[in-house]
Amino acid sequence: MQLRRIDDMHVHLRQGDMLAGVLAQTVKQCARALVMPNTSPAVLTAEDVVNYRQSILDLLPVGVDFKPLMTFKVVPSTTVLQIKELKACGAVAGKLYPDGVTTNSQGGVTDFKALYPIYQAMQEEGLVLCLHGEMPGAFSLDRESKFLSVLQAIAADFPDLKIVLEHATTAEAIQCVQALGPNVAATLTVHHLYITLDDVIGGNLNPHVFCKPVAKRPEDRDVLIAAAISGNAKFFLGSDSAPHHISAKECACGAAGVYTAPVLVPALVELFEKHGALAKLERFTSEFGANFYGLPLNEGMLILEEKHWTVPDEYHGVKPFLSGLNLKWSIKEN
Ligand code: NCD
Ligand code: ZN
Repeated sequence: MQLRRIDDMHVHLRQGDMLAGVLAQTVKQCARALVMPNTSPAVLTAEDVVNYRQSILDLLPVGVDFKPLMTFKVVPSTTVLQIKELKACGAVAGKLYPDGVTTNSQGGVTDFKALYPIYQAMQEEGLVLCLHGEMPGAFSLDRESKFLSVLQAIAADFPDLKIVLEHATTAEAIQCVQALGPNVAATLTVHHLYITLDDVIGGNLNPHVFCKPVAKRPEDRDVLIAAAISGNAKFFLGSDSAPHHISAKECACGAAGVYTAPVLVPALVELFEKHGALAKLERFTSEFGANFYGLPLNEGMLILEEKHWTVPDEYHGVKPFLSGLNLKWSIKEN
C-alpha cells in the first residue's frame, strides 16, 4: 500500500549523539516533523532556532528530502520582540510546558494569564501555540483534565490563535477539543492509541512505556482511537517520540518518554487496519496536520509492503516501543 509522505507534528530529536542516532528513523518515515524545543539548554530565541535547525540539517545525508519544522519554548520570560524574531527566523510554533510536568520542564509556566501578551503576539504573527496540557500539582491521573479550563480560556480569548493540545490522553480532552472552534486541534500519539495505564504499572513495572501524560483508562484509549479514525480534521498525528537512553529509563528515577519513531508508520497501519479504517489513515498522518499548520501537502509516497519484521530490542541505546513484537507492515526501502 501507499501513503502520502507523512508529517509527525510532535517529535523529540534531542541533541548531539542522540540526535545523530535517532534522526534517521524519523527521516525514513516522515517528510516533515515538528521538532520539540525541550533540549538542554532549551530552544528559546531565534538564534537558538537557527542553530538547532542547522545541527539537524548538518546530519541529513545529501539528497534527503526532510524538513524540520522548528519550535521554541514559551517561558515566563519570553518577550513580544522575541516572538517577532522567532517568526522571522522561520519557527512555526511555540510550545508551552507547565512547570515541572515533564522532561526538561523545570522553570515552566505557572501563571497562564501572565502570558496573554505573548499569545496575542503569536496570534498576530500566525504562530501556533502547542500546549503540554497538564496542570502542575494536580493528581497525576487528573492533570490533563484539570488543564482543560486553561485551554478553554485561551481559546475563548484568542479565537484566531491556532492552538494544539498535544498528546491528548483522555476522553474528556477529546470531547473538549471537539467542542472548541476550528482554531483548536489535538495531536494523538501512537503509544496512547495502543496502551493503557495497565501496560505501565498493571503487572511488573515497564519504564519504557512511562511517559507524560501517562496512559489512562481503556475507555479513554477507545475514545482516542475513535478520534484518530474518525476523519475529523481536528485530530492528527504527533508521535511524541521521546528517546531516553536505557540507563535513564531502567533506574530509580526513570525519565518519561516513549521512543516510537522506529515503529511509527508500521504500528499505525496495523492499528488502522485492525479497526477497518485504513482509508482514513492518510488524512490522519499526512493531511490534517499540514492543513492546520497551513503547509502544503507533502509530495511523494511512502511505500509499505506486507513483510513481517520483529522490532529490535534496541536502537542506539534506546529501547523502542513494541520491541520484540512482530509487525506485519514494513517500509519499502528505496
Ligand atoms: C517528553 C521528553 O522526554 O522530552 N517526555 C514525555 O514523557 N512525553 C516530553 C513531553 O513531551 O512531555
Ligand atoms: Zn513531547
